[in-house]
Parts: sequence; C-alpha cells; structure tokens
Amino acid sequence: MAGGIGSRFWPMSTQKYPKQFQDILGTGRTMIQQTYDRIRKVVPAENIYVITNKEYISLTAEQLPDINAENIVGEPMMKNTAACNIYMAKKIAEKNSNANIIVLPADHLILKENIFLKKAELAFNLAEKNDYLITLGIKPTRPDTGYGYIQFVEKKNSEYFKVKTFTEKPDLEIAKTFLESGDFLWNAGIFIWNVKSILSAFEEFLPEMSQNFEGCEYNSKNEEHCIDLIYPKVNKISIDNGILEKAKNVYVIPADLGWSDLGTWNSIYENSDKDKNDNAGKSKHTVTYNAKGNLIKLKNQNKAVVIDGLENYIIVDTDKALLICPRENDQLLKEYVHDLKALK
Ligand code: GDD
Ligand code: MG
Repeated sequence: MAGGIGSRFWPMSTQKYPKQFQDILGTGRTMIQQTYDRIRKVVPAENIYVITNKEYISLTAEQLPDINAENIVGEPMMKNTAACNIYMAKKIAEKNSNANIIVLPADHLILKENIFLKKAELAFNLAEKNDYLITLGIKPTRPDTGYGYIQFVEKKNSEYFKVKTFTEKPDLEIAKTFLESGDFLWNAGIFIWNVKSILSAFEEFLPEMSQNFEGCEYNSKNEEHCIDLIYPKVNKISIDNGILEKAKNVYVIPADLGWSDLGTWNSIYENSDKDKNDNAGKSKHTVTYNAKGNLIKLKNQNKAVVIDGLENYIIVDTDKALLICPRENDQLLKEYVHDLKALK
C-alpha cells in the first residue's frame, strides 16, 4: 500500500512527493524500495503488487524497475485502506482464488529483517490452513494515539494468539490505560490473509463496498474504466476501522521487528542519532544553546542555523515551507496542513 500522502510528515512529505518515495533516513534507498527489497526475499517479483494513486504510478515504476507495469495498480482517488485492500484481493483472487496475501505499508522501518521473514512465513502457513485474519503485533513503548491497539487471549507456548479486542487509534487517556495494563500490542499494519478470508470479511462487515467491487473484469482491459466508476461511490474507511475492529477471526503474531512506522516526526526523532543534549539532525552549520531534545531537519544542509532556548521542538525547513512546533504536537500535523490549505 503506497497511496498515502504522509500529511503528518509535512513539510518534507508533500502531495507531489510523499514520504514513501523519499529516502527519509538517508540509507540510500527510499521507503518503498526498502519495503520491496525486504519482501522480495520471500515473494517472487511477479507476485508483488503496489497499489497507489494514479498520480504516483510513474514514480513507483522509476523506483522499482523490476516490477511489471501491470503490477503497479493506480487508484483514481484516495479512499483509505479498506478500498485498496478489497480491490487488490479481487484482482489477485481472479488470478488465484486460493492466494495468500501479505499486505505491507510502504513506509515502515524494520531493523530485524530475519525475524520479519520468519514471522511472515509462520503467518503464511496459518493463513493457508485457517480462516484467519492475521496481523503482526509490536510491544508498545509509549501511549501513542496513532496506532491500533490489540488485546489478545493468552495461550502458553504459542507463537500466535486470538485477538480479543482491536481498538484503532484510541484517545490519549485510553492509550495510557492500555499501555499500563501491559495486555496490549500495537498493530503493525502488516496483514496476512487468504483472499477467501478477507473477501468474506468484506461481505460481512462492509457489504456495500463488497457490492461496489462486484462485476468488474479484473485483469482485463476494462478494469481501469470499471474502477474509475466504482471509486467515487466507495466509502472512505480504513481496513482497521472497517474490518479488523469488527471481525471475530483476527489473530496476532507478536513480533520484535525493530519496527517503526515512520509516520510522524517523533518516530524520526527516535530513530536518529543525537548529540549530548539529545538534539537530532544538527548540521555542521548549526549551533545550539540551552537547546534540548529537538529534531532539526534542514533541506539545505549549508544553511547557518542558531537555536537558543528551545526544548523538545520539531524544526523542519524546506525550500517552500518552515515548521516549528512542539514535539508533543506531532499528531496535529494533519490539522496544520488542513488549515494552511484553507488560506489559499
Ligand atoms: N493505495 C492506498 N490508498 N494506500 C493508502 C491509502 C489509500 O487511500 N491510504 C493510506 N495508504 C497507505 C499508506 O501509504 C501507508 O503505507 C499505509 O497505507 C497505512 O496508511 P497510514 O495512513 O499510514 O495508516 P496509519 O499509520 O494511520 O495506521 C495504520 O498503521 C498503523 C501502524 O503503522 C493502522 O493499521 C494502525 O492500526 C497501525 O497501528
Ligand atoms: Mg502509517
């Protein structure tokens, strides 16, 4: 899934050039390239699909030259992740009605790749034999309101558990309670299921959407036209709210992946090297006084910068925009961007 615009990551991520197509951590590979490199080890290139907005098809093809053109699937508009999941499940089911799918967000950091590959294999085996909707679960470290929280049924000596409750993006009070209880995992947003399981979950929990996607000739010349007619009618809802919060056959595999959804500035801060005052991202031309815990991100590394008296701030400077806000407000980025657009 690579259709998001990463608005919580403004001003570096923009509609023209969203974060999945950027080398955010300076590793030499963009986020979508890293995702491809990782899954390519267990899935052959001809079975890897990217679903993204039509606007990003050429960017995807440029960054992933080994993927067949017909595997880069364009959506006419953003409808959140339920729509892209049913679309892909229908398209893949038309080719193989018993296929197992692993759904990957295009913008995650996974440091422990071997563990990821092992857990993916376990999940494929489970999905092959059972009507399970499987997600990978991460041990939470803070009451983050940007994630789904999973409570599961304990079972000794098992590598996977039945999910009791799935709560997508709780408010801060609830997130704190979840964290303190020690019973919850974060949803990594990586899903594994058989096409039959996910399509029947759509029929049950999002019947209208399920009907919308009936009757297209997938993998034919008519597909694009048919999808263009369907999308405007489709509800905007995430797979988490639409399916995972409701389904009774959700299972979680806890996985210590060295995982981070590089979704917000704080996640970048946490994954960056810091100086002795915990400032991250200082360039050679930056001096700081009484400055602690700041994240500094400069497009122009040669710009002279002085920071005095700031604590726990995000400072991002690009050609077109400048952001200065407290780190604790990083979930408000969507609102900032919304309000900025209203000025035009
Ligand atoms: N094709 C397509 N179309 N992709 C989309 C769309 C869309 O309309 N909207 C989002 N995506 C892609 C994003 O690019 C990203 O790779 C992925 O789908 C997930 O979307 P996000 O918008 O980043 O979701 P989130 O981070 O708020 O929440 C999800 O991930 C969390 C973990 O990172 C949920 O699954 C949470 O429960 C989970 O904890
Ligand atoms: Mg995300």
